[in-house]
Amino acid sequence: MKRGFPAGFRWGTATAAYQIEGSTTADGRGPSIWDTFTARPGLASGDPACDHYRRYREDIGLLSDLGVPYYRFSVAWSRVMPDGRTVEPRGTAFYDRLVDTLLDHGITPMVTLYHWDLPEALQAEGGWPNRALADLFAEYALTVHKVLGDRVRQWTTINEPFCAAFIGYGNGEHAPGIRDEGAALVAGHNLLLAHGKATQALRSGGGEQEVSIVLNFAPVLTDVDDAAHREAARKFDFLHNRFFLDPLLGRGYPPELLADLAHLGTLEPAIADGDLEIIAQPLDVLGVNYYAPARAVPLEDPEADSNCPLPGLRGMDVQPPRGELTSLGWEQRPECLTGLLLWLHEHCPGLPLVIAENGAAFEDEVVDGRVHDEKRVRYFAEHLAAVHDAIERGADVRGYMAWSLLDNFEWAKGYTQRFGLVHVDFETQERVLKDSARFYADVVARNGL
Ligand code: FCB
Repeated sequence: MKRGFPAGFRWGTATAAYQIEGSTTADGRGPSIWDTFTARPGLASGDPACDHYRRYREDIGLLSDLGVPYYRFSVAWSRVMPDGRTVEPRGTAFYDRLVDTLLDHGITPMVTLYHWDLPEALQAEGGWPNRALADLFAEYALTVHKVLGDRVRQWTTINEPFCAAFIGYGNGEHAPGIRDEGAALVAGHNLLLAHGKATQALRSGGGEQEVSIVLNFAPVLTDVDDAAHREAARKFDFLHNRFFLDPLLGRGYPPELLADLAHLGTLEPAIADGDLEIIAQPLDVLGVNYYAPARAVPLEDPEADSNCPLPGLRGMDVQPPRGELTSLGWEQRPECLTGLLLWLHEHCPGLPLVIAENGAAFEDEVVDGRVHDEKRVRYFAEHLAAVHDAIERGADVRGYMAWSLLDNFEWAKGYTQRFGLVHVDFETQERVLKDSARFYADVVARNGL
């Protein structure tokens, strides 16, 4: 073995409720914004997805066969509280069974409270641009903690607020499909506030726990090292990598970013007295999602809108990816993961990091009962080596969750993108371990590459 990981390194796989569960009307579940959004023409529905709501025992059996000791999943708010407020005991019972089954197999559950599936009833009240959702989210967090807190130690409040706010309310490519940049900024702030209040709620619930938030990062590359390119990269970097991170660290929104977005006129008025203190609850761990870098170029006209999810981030454009791409068109740059982890180590002193998602979509085929997904095996091998490099150079990385356990419903892309270690036939729901699953199981067993 060439690269050993530290003792106690947490190896896991990750999924999200809406992407795998299906059964969207079972046991009193209320509609979420993703049910409404995917009812639009041309979009695939998240039902049945992987039919995991009914097949969770089989899926946990697979996890157990693979010997991967941690499992990151999300709870659907609209199952636990169909209208966003009233508890549905059949919904909480599902997660109760899920956690017990994981523990019976010796697998440690890591719970994410919000992976984008807002109850539709709360969208009807304005969705995330409505500040009242922050308190409702804290109540929901406490409710889930009451049910699972005796067995779950690791909690993530929110997954990728960047996507929930800016893709959901900015360019509208995700649910709820709204295009209103000003509202998107307020949604971003309210998601952070919701995180802060939920963190307080979880800690008030007692017990020993680790609270984290999961952010998605995109290191920004440029072709030319001149002032204009550096400034274009700076703008995108601050929006993508620091809008959420800096307030969490108690530093508020970066002043340069506030200036970049000032003409939209909504963010600063949304920041009430005391908000920044609530947002800056100490984190036990930072969850890091990394898939690909972004490339930035300056636009000659400094007043020109950009092609990023918030066009009002003016004067820059995101360029198309290059080199080797995944089937989703994402650039494969493992070295950017090393750089990101080292930057986070410096930027967030003393904060342990866990890779909460990393993985790749490729077109996989079952041939004679096997899936030879060499490209995914290579992607994982290279990215794990990149994580190892960062650890060797001092980054405090405590774990790695492969995205994803199963091929699943990939949001606006429907079932066209396969990210799983396990192949799912969406007609028959048959599961087949891919070569990448065997590769990953082997890495986990040896705690190294
Ligand atoms: C991330 C999401 C996750 C999955 C991957 C591919 O942004 O958190 O649900 O869709 O991308």
